[in-house]
Amino acid sequence: MIQGSSVDEEVSRRVASEAKGNGPVLVILDSNHAHDHVLRELEIYSPLVTRGSYLIVFDTVIEEMPADFFPDRPWGPDNNPKTAVREFLKTNDRFEVDRQLEAKLLITVAPGGYLRCIKD
Ligand SMILES: C[S@@+](CC[C@H](N)C(=O)[O-])C[C@H]1O[C@@H](n2cnc3c(N)ncnc32)[C@H](O)[C@@H]1O
Repeated sequence: MIQGSSVDEEVSRRVASEAKGNGPVLVILDSNHAHDHVLRELEIYSPLVTRGSYLIVFDTVIEEMPADFFPDRPWGPDNNPKTAVREFLKTNDRFEVDRQLEAKLLITVAPGGYLRCIKD
């Protein structure tokens, strides 16, 4: 186990070092759900994902929740993992949203959050 903030340089360096050469690599993001934090995680960890595998961003469903649903959290509509994914996909062409996988699930907290890696 590597403990620390996901966006800490030393933590991400150690994660990258463990992942290197040990493919296939799948990444799940499920920590702080604020837009800026998730976007940073996407930038840091997406390069680790191997082609054909997935980058899964949890709790994109927050975008669809009522604004007062998380009164003690900084995230909510317009500031959440879904908005970060949208921003990320504007400039990254290694990933596409896998709607087929999502369609097989009866329920998910990650609509639009299953990103398939389509390029090396
Ligand atoms: C939604 S829970 C996820 C739980 C986890 N996926 C599991 O199944 O046990 C979010 C977790 O992220 C942690 N967290 C918050 N900010 C973080 C950060 N910057 N880096 C790493 N973890 C963080 C929280 O302490 C909390 O335990």
